[in-house]
Amino acid sequence: MERVDTSEPVLRDPVGGRLPRRKLFERFGWGGLTALIVLCLPGLVRFLRPNGSRAGTGDLHVGSIHDYRTPMVATQWVGRHQLWIVNRDSRLFAIEARCTHLGCTPRWMPERGIFHCPCHGSRFSPEGLLLRGPATQPLYRLAIRVEHDQVLIDPSRREPLDDAELDPRFWVAV
Ligand code: FES
Repeated sequence: MERVDTSEPVLRDPVGGRLPRRKLFERFGWGGLTALIVLCLPGLVRFLRPNGSRAGTGDLHVGSIHDYRTPMVATQWVGRHQLWIVNRDSRLFAIEARCTHLGCTPRWMPERGIFHCPCHGSRFSPEGLLLRGPATQPLYRLAIRVEHDQVLIDPSRREPLDDAELDPRFWVAV
């Protein structure tokens, strides 16, 4: 006759045998922990990814090309996507709304025609050129394209103004 150790509570396993409760918890505990890690990993990666790169987040849809036909600095995407859409000199481009000094969000001052950073006073032209420090670099441009009349921004591709001016991925003729 089989002797059972009664000093520890037992549970039946699926095939009818008996498992000590401790072993049961060990088995399901590790399985549960593994499942939890697998389920949480994508969210954790998204959480830890720096906002600056925003790599792999996909294209941002910022409306129809017809919304940007006239010379303008469109500010409606600053809160949501941290960028401006600018129509200037027959080109449409996207400027990252992040000061190159310490990362504050500059403000568009239409009456003065400049971007002004409220943190330490840097100023930038509507093209993103540095006008006054303490920043030492112009604003960054983001890749832009038009598909089926829709303006798409790829925030994972950013270039300093000088390089972006020469790269057709960073402006659209309008
Ligand atoms: S963060 Fe913009 S001037 Fe310092």
